[in-house]
Amino acid sequence: MFLRFIDVRKTFAAGAVAVDRVSFDVPRGQFCVVLGSSGAGKSTLLRLVNGMVEPTEGTVEFDGLTVQRKSLRRVQPRIGMVHQQFNLVPRLSVLNNVLAGALPTISNTRALLGLFPEPLRRRACHLLAEVGLGEEHLYRRAANLSGGQQQRVAIARAFILEPRLVLADEPVASLDPEISRVILKLLQDESRQHHATVLCSLHQVELAVEFADRIVGMSQGRVVFDGPPAEFDENARRALYGSESGPGE
Ligand SMILES: Nc1ncnc2c1ncn2[C@@H]1O[C@H](COP(=O)(O)OP(=O)(O)OP(=O)(O)O)[C@@H](O)[C@H]1O
Ligand SMILES: [Mg+2]
Repeated sequence: MFLRFIDVRKTFAAGAVAVDRVSFDVPRGQFCVVLGSSGAGKSTLLRLVNGMVEPTEGTVEFDGLTVQRKSLRRVQPRIGMVHQQFNLVPRLSVLNNVLAGALPTISNTRALLGLFPEPLRRRACHLLAEVGLGEEHLYRRAANLSGGQQQRVAIARAFILEPRLVLADEPVASLDPEISRVILKLLQDESRQHHATVLCSLHQVELAVEFADRIVGMSQGRVVFDGPPAEFDENARRALYGSESGPGE
């Protein structure tokens, strides 16, 4: 299996159980959305995959590897990341922000001099074009872009090393609803185009239903729903968000 959580538990020092005996598999190519209210454990679940969080119990397997300290050098380059706050380097150009996603693969000297191999530059430009940022945007400073444009750059950056998996932690939480749909569509298109699997956390049920192949619903660290969007009904909503019908905080 491409990505597998096996009885994974994560407790933090303060005693909070962030992820509680979670087991599920994500097959290659799936757009899997993790839904849940604030504190449900979505970010922790994603961070367990790239090794930013170590499980207290259980195992995460990814692409033939067990995720653990000694495998991170092989795990991390296969994973692209998209964050809520875009995490671009504001003073760098759009193009260099995308190239920065490839820094782990080039020498320090080349990196310091900004000497990226030509095929990598071509790939960066190509990815930027795919997310709707043409040549006129390449040398703009990231700081001068709108939120939606910044997230387009972050998506291009996430795909620069041909990742097998993209982890997107609330990629649209800082964007207005209209732009959110555009950005999720781009993430979906790019993942299909480049045969990447996506594990994406969201707050909004409507967006999950629209874009997910599969929804994993979490509440208090546990998986309380797992199925296709068509099966995400009122009961599922209640299991995730309690008696309120909306995803309140
Ligand atoms: N580094 C940490 N140290 C201590 N507790 C943590 C840490 N990270 C997360 N937690 C706790 O684990 C639980 C799950 O947090 P997590 O950030 O995974 O939730 P989330 O679903 O991503 O929430 P949000 O929607 O607000 O981003 C929460 O109770 C949180 O306080
Ligand atoms: Mg979170």
